[in-house]
Amino acid sequence: MKILLTHIKELLQVRDTPVDRLCGIQMKTLPTIKNAWLYLVNNKIHDYGTMDSISNLEADKIINCSGSIVLPTWCDSHSHLVYAGNREQEFVDRINGLSYQEIAANGGGIIHSAKKLQATSEQDLFSQSENRLNQIMNLGTGAIEIKSGYGLTLDAELKMLKVAKQLGEKYPIKVKTTFLGAHAVPPEFKNNKQGYLDHICNDMLPRVAEEKLATYVDIFCEKGYFSVADTHQLLKEAKKYNLIPKIHVNQFNAIGGVAAGVKHQALSVDHLEVLTDDDISALKGTKTMPVALPSCSYFLGIPYTPARKIIDAGLPLAVATDYNPGSTPSGNMNFVVATACIKMKLTPEEAINAATINGAYAMGISDSHGSISKGKNASVIISKEVPSYNYLPYAFGSNLIKQVIINGQMIL
Ligand code: NIG
Ligand code: FE
Repeated sequence: MKILLTHIKELLQVRDTPVDRLCGIQMKTLPTIKNAWLYLVNNKIHDYGTMDSISNLEADKIINCSGSIVLPTWCDSHSHLVYAGNREQEFVDRINGLSYQEIAANGGGIIHSAKKLQATSEQDLFSQSENRLNQIMNLGTGAIEIKSGYGLTLDAELKMLKVAKQLGEKYPIKVKTTFLGAHAVPPEFKNNKQGYLDHICNDMLPRVAEEKLATYVDIFCEKGYFSVADTHQLLKEAKKYNLIPKIHVNQFNAIGGVAAGVKHQALSVDHLEVLTDDDISALKGTKTMPVALPSCSYFLGIPYTPARKIIDAGLPLAVATDYNPGSTPSGNMNFVVATACIKMKLTPEEAINAATINGAYAMGISDSHGSISKGKNASVIISKEVPSYNYLPYAFGSNLIKQVIINGQMIL
């Protein structure tokens, strides 16, 4: 299939020389071409240029994009999209004054989702997750990382990862999977966290690796969940299976998880709502991507990740959804980009960089996704008519997407 997009008002994130990530001040620049064309052949970006230089190109489909912005699809590097049921009762409980941690301590939270998921068949789990996946593809997400972590038993964790993998096989969206067995201590191990960690290390990790179900490994390094020592134990063990860390740290407390992640060469450290100067220092000069999840802060009413502090320190930043039933029941990357601007004071250029090329880096796919570069995956968003790209985060409640192409296929 050859698709030619013509008369594009502005083509964003055009990188003739691809970059793998953008740090600090580099994030301020978003290279664009005005009045552009873009030629997609099969599932790759073949060529692009300005309308005055367009040659006779053979195409199965020509899309006139006048008035539209075209940009690479979003790369959502942190999600828990595979889950069973929902937790809207906890939402009401929080409105009535309970905290996220109090709800979890009363048997709600992750444990509640795990019970539901354990009792859900693989087929049902697939169909519930498939609905969400379709929704987010329509919202312009062309690549997503999906974690396990609502299984908390060997079988249920494998079931989650199989569903995530099958979603990636059935749909054009790129899916990368992460094993998050260490998301919470299940009731069977209530007073025996070490027993559960050993179970993860001795029984779960080998199976996940043997069945090639995950590229990454994650742990919820947080007071009341898993400690820094637990994190060291797990990540050291996971390395034996070549599972690369992408970890949950500093959501509620800074307990040293960032430095632990860096020590184990984590690809990303995610959440960072609470961030110390030591954490910033630990990240400097490393290849670890800090990832902010602004929809989670919005939904739980917790602090936003101090994005300015991170970028102004010369570090890179990615933004992602954290789509999950407890802290972020939304997979809308457009909202994430808008909230990054509105609440975290990123410029539109920084936010778009954070949600495309840096998101791609945080899920290990910046060689194929995250920018308009020849040979990269043919995944783009075509906006409705808008006055400028600044309008995208500005008009935060409107759906400004007209069409989405993922891996060369028309989605919308
Ligand atoms: O990233 N913080 C840990 N995990 C998820 C939320 C889990 C849940 O509440 O179900 C998160 O926010
Ligand atoms: Fe998360």
